[in-house]
Amino acid sequence: MIEFRNVNFSYEKGREVLHDMSFRIEKGETVGLIGANGAGKSTIMKLLLGLLEADGGVFVDGTAVKKETLSEIRGKLGFVLQNSDNQMFMPTVYEDMIFGPLNYGLPREEVDRRVDEVLERLGLEYLKDRCNHKISGGEKRMAAIATILAMEPEAILMDEPTSALDPYNRRIVINTIRELEQTKLIASHDLDMILDTCGRVILISGGRIAADGDAMEILTDRELLEANRMELPFCFTGRK
Ligand SMILES: Nc1ncnc2c1ncn2[C@@H]1O[C@H](COP(=O)(O)OP(=O)(O)OP(=O)(O)O)[C@@H](O)[C@H]1O
Ligand SMILES: [Mg+2]
Repeated sequence: MIEFRNVNFSYEKGREVLHDMSFRIEKGETVGLIGANGAGKSTIMKLLLGLLEADGGVFVDGTAVKKETLSEIRGKLGFVLQNSDNQMFMPTVYEDMIFGPLNYGLPREEVDRRVDEVLERLGLEYLKDRCNHKISGGEKRMAAIATILAMEPEAILMDEPTSALDPYNRRIVINTIRELEQTKLIASHDLDMILDTCGRVILISGGRIAADGDAMEILTDRELLEANRMELPFCFTGRK
């Protein structure tokens, strides 16, 4: 469903951010993308969405990501960016949620049904008619997640979905991610959440893949994590 084939990427000449990166994520997999600040996680997400352009090698469902294929690709991917502020562009949460599905030609009644179902699932009915610019940071993050769920995309990219969330909403998001059958790529420093939701983890360090494999194996490998500026998930340290 998602593939990087020998991808190199630099924002500025002479400073490569991703070096010869290759990985494949099959349909239905849930994969955690972890790594220190600046490792390249968000860059990977943006390349998949075509917000950044590599010189080839990025594929979604077998289609190369490039200008001509963007609308096809965006129709398959739902995404929550690291900064949800950039993502909400309609006046109210409800209008944001219906925008995508209506655009893809779904009838209004079906869209309204989906919106109500998603809001109920996330416990966000109270946000439906609120103004996007007048809700809190965590509420915005929840609204951004609600918006992609209403799209029912084939694959979901989430960049730090639980940052800014209180423990109650974080748990709702974790449970929701676990229930979703779609292909998911989740970038986060919340390693406990990654462990709760992902069967596989890709660890990025210095623009390269430092490890790719079973989530439990990687997230219990203290040496590997510490060598890459991370720590064991809290559930293994007894700390809260
Ligand atoms: N617009 C930009 N122009 C130049 N360099 C950038 C730009 N955006 C990111 N970078 C650099 O690219 C590298 C990777 O950044 P990226 O945002 O992908 O990291 P990340 O793994 O998502 O980090 P974080 O955990 O802090 O979100 C960093 O060195 C960063 O400074
Ligand atoms: Mg990032």
